[in-house]
This record gives sequence, C-alpha cells and structure tokens, in this order.
Amino acid sequence: MVYLKTEEEIELIRESSLLVGKTLAELAKIIEPGVTPLQLDEVAESFIKDNGGIPGFKGYNDYPNTLCTSINEQVVHGIPSDRPLENGDIISVDCGVIKNGFYGDVAYTLEVGEVKEEVRDLLRTTKECLNEAIKAAKAGNRIGDIGFAVQSLAESKGYGVVRELVGHGLGKNLHEAPEVPNYGRRGNGMKLKEGLVLAIEPMINLGKRHVKQQEDGWTIVTADGLPSAHFEHDVVVRKDGAEVLSTHELIEEVLNNKEKVS
Ligand code: MF3
Ligand code: CO
Repeated sequence: MVYLKTEEEIELIRESSLLVGKTLAELAKIIEPGVTPLQLDEVAESFIKDNGGIPGFKGYNDYPNTLCTSINEQVVHGIPSDRPLENGDIISVDCGVIKNGFYGDVAYTLEVGEVKEEVRDLLRTTKECLNEAIKAAKAGNRIGDIGFAVQSLAESKGYGVVRELVGHGLGKNLHEAPEVPNYGRRGNGMKLKEGLVLAIEPMINLGKRHVKQQEDGWTIVTADGLPSAHFEHDVVVRKDGAEVLSTHELIEEVLNNKEKVS
C-alpha cells in the first residue's frame, strides 16, 4: 500500500525529520576520539525526549537503541557499544524519531579525528549519490531512476553499491512501500507521484558491494572488510523535483565551526 501524504502530513514529517537533524547535530558537537557510541546514544535519546519526540528505532523489531552506529566496515544497523571511537574512524549515525505520530529518519556519516583521504572521498561521493538520487525523485520519474542515479555515480568511481538494504516510504510507519533500491535501470519500477514521501539512503562501499550480517542479528558489515558510507534524507516527491524535508545543514554547521577552532 502506497500512501500519498497531504500537505498537513508532510509538515508533520518535516518536523520529525528536523528533530532528527538537530539530534545528529548535537552528536556532531561531541564526537571525538575516546567518545563511545553508547554515550552518543544516551545524548540522542535525552535530546529527542526533551524535544517532544520518541526514539523511533528503539523497540522497532526489538532493536535495542535510539541510534544505529555503524563504524568503518559496518554498513548499517550497528548497535551502539562502549568501545571508544578512534582517530581515523568513520561512523554512520542513523536516527529515527516519532513526533505527532509521524516518523523522521536521517543518517550522516561522521569522521572521527583525521580520516584518510581515500575514505573522505568515499564520504563525499556517497553524499553526492544522495543528491543525485534526490534530483531523480520527481513526479513522473520512476523508482528505477533513483537507483540508476546512485549506482551510475558510485560505480563510475569504482565503489560497490549495497543491494540488500534499501530506502523506503516513510510516514506513520518507519518502513512503508515502496522500497527504494540504490541500484536500478532508468524507467523501471513504480511511477513517482506528488506527495509520496521517501527516505533515500545510499550505502556505498569502498570495495566490493557484498555484505554479511553479524551474529548479533543486526549489524551489517562489508564482506571484504573495507569501509562503507551511509547518508539518508527524507524527501517528498513534487512536480519539479523532490523537496528535502530533513536537513544535514545543522550537522555541517557544527562540523565547519569545529574545523575553524582546531
Ligand atoms: N534507517 C534505517 C532503516 O530505514 C534504520 C532502521 S534501524 C531499526 O532501515 F532499528 F529501526 F530497524
Ligand atoms: Co531509513
């Protein structure tokens, strides 16, 4: 069942995804070598509750935490641990909230200290893949156009596109139809209609595309052990293109200010 949202519903999803963006910006402020993912998780949970939200992942299919924290070769769904972050790590911080009955779902891959240039390139390209996907998500286009946009850019740089996990519709449920793969063919799949709200989330590997799941039943890692990046936005399909409902800008402001003082 595909739900097209009313403008009122879209505003509520915007509010929820904005709260996620603000939460991730709080994490960007404190992230540094020595900080543990569990500390980030506690900060996120309090911040969400203080701002009238409910953590959206905690309890979802029995997921234990507020954040998914996926470090280096972990692709997504990493469970926050008490192992301190190290200089040179990258960490995908994925967070969901429910507010006014609607979900927001946003992810950003943060750098810890000094990260290798090769890995920083992967992050830049994954963000670009997300932007290309958003441009492709306009009314009249098809789901396959979104996947094609991601895949063609990522593979042109020699990266692997994760296929086992996908973006999704978003609304009163965290995962609604349709699925939004990060690979595909132009003109294939469901036609995109105005009012369709999607969480678009490319997962791009420095090496090969293949992934496996760890014993904990959640954490997805690259099969070759090389790093993986993940960025996610919530968007609504409009006539002239997708409108982004979430924001990474607050996170990036924090990161830019950090750079200035260091
Ligand atoms: N952004 C991820 C997704 O859409 C997060 C889900 S984690 C879960 O799949 F814990 F909530 F399952
Ligand atoms: Co998602």
